Amino acid sequence: MTPDPEHHATPHAGSGVAIEPCTLVILGGSGDLTRRKLLPALYNLLLDGLLPSNYAVIGFGRTPCTDEAFRTFARDGIKKFSRQEIRQDTWEDFARRLCYVTGSGDDPNAYRDLRTRIEAVEAQFTLPGHRIFYLAIPPNSFAPACQGLQQAGMGDPPDSPGRSSRVIVEKPIGRDLESARAINATIGGVFRESQIYRIDHYLGKETVQNIMVLRFANAIFEPIWNHKYIDHVQITVSEEEGIGTRAQYYEQAGALRDMVQNHILQLLALTAMEPPYSLDPEVVRNARMEVLRCLRPIRGETAEHMTVRAQYAHGAINGQEVPGYRRETGIRPDSTTETYVALKCYIENWRWAGVPFYLRTGKAMPKRASEIAVQLKDIPEILFSAAPHPRQAPNLLTLRIQPHEGMALRIMSKIPGSKGNTHPVEMNFNYGDAFSAPSPEAYERLLLDVMADDASLFMRHDAVEASWAWVTDILNGWDSHGSRWLPEYPAGTWGPIEADRLIETDGSKWRVL
Ligand code: BG6
Repeated sequence: MTPDPEHHATPHAGSGVAIEPCTLVILGGSGDLTRRKLLPALYNLLLDGLLPSNYAVIGFGRTPCTDEAFRTFARDGIKKFSRQEIRQDTWEDFARRLCYVTGSGDDPNAYRDLRTRIEAVEAQFTLPGHRIFYLAIPPNSFAPACQGLQQAGMGDPPDSPGRSSRVIVEKPIGRDLESARAINATIGGVFRESQIYRIDHYLGKETVQNIMVLRFANAIFEPIWNHKYIDHVQITVSEEEGIGTRAQYYEQAGALRDMVQNHILQLLALTAMEPPYSLDPEVVRNARMEVLRCLRPIRGETAEHMTVRAQYAHGAINGQEVPGYRRETGIRPDSTTETYVALKCYIENWRWAGVPFYLRTGKAMPKRASEIAVQLKDIPEILFSAAPHPRQAPNLLTLRIQPHEGMALRIMSKIPGSKGNTHPVEMNFNYGDAFSAPSPEAYERLLLDVMADDASLFMRHDAVEASWAWVTDILNGWDSHGSRWLPEYPAGTWGPIEADRLIETDGSKWRVL
């Protein structure tokens, strides 16, 4: 028998696992995420030869739209946001596999229409019925969407062999522990945990995946990766943009919920986790999870000492004036939502006993830059660190998550020609110099992993709840002080003076990126 090329599984880049032909259904199909991220990611996977040879993409949403209009919407989004240009030969095949179903997510009948269309498309392309439902919709729509899918018979995998359904859930998964649990219960009522993929797009970034490789594929770091050698760790995710057009969402969220609960805690978990005994998704997820479980709670009064929250005030970024947060369109003039947060935390296990982790993130800062900086302890005050020599700068390993992806190690070197004078120098690794191929976007990797049924880079329900439990303690601590005016930092600066004090009382300084 000659194999049918339409039904060939494509090997998954990285794992070599076969990717079955599939039907991707995007709920929120006419939304921003679909246009900016999902359709460009799918198209790039196609250009890179990574999509299965047979697939279809069905948009579903309340905005009325025809198949043709959805293809134009996709083309515009891809033109604007794709990392590779549109190629006519591949575009035509991609476009004919795109279609759209108009329907309100609250209307159970709409899901029946959706099912009818899915079945028609699967018959048209001879697709076997591996369905992936992407919930690119706000969290208050998760419940009607899951119920609608279930009532239309699209929840648990259908009985016939060789079929499956998976669901991808976008953040925010809740706004505190209770709401996160409720969302997990709603989705868990329809799909089994093994069918659910909760996205944290930071885990899809190449540089974030490289943290494990750096730590566990090199002999040099692991022996010193503990409280005996490491003085402290700083994790920074700074953003140049303000809140843009997302006032409504951001007012309800703030920096702690928006960035720390998910992205930054995942960076922390990867930096601090124990070596997993295998690369099996559950083993890796357990290792990340254990870090979250070991975080020392920050409760009540402690929240005021261990955290700093602030708002950007009027300022300038790259010569452009930026209004203060409370003057942005859609923001209350007496808003107490934080656009910046810095905090100090501890991981209570043997490896990290006594090592402070300083985390900070903010909007309207001088530049977009994310990094993890691991500072080693001072050398003994003899030889080059003893008088009359100045104190030697401690070794510092910095992992640049974005931009200028790479890493650097600061070491001390003798200044040529001097008797014994020293100067800090850097050993540098840049992705761009070392690898010619550009890195894929996070969503490319993550969509591919769902198709390959690999959940390593996704959040398990218990991890989502553990991070919300920790963050909710801080939120409650803040609330117990009532709402109050927050410290301010001028837009285009590195945060308020209170954040400097938080770290300087320990004898360290924030890095200027
Ligand atoms: C999102 C946040 O999850 O991450 C945004 O909601 C933030 O507020 C964004 O801007 C940052 O992602 P990235 O990939 O641009 O660093």
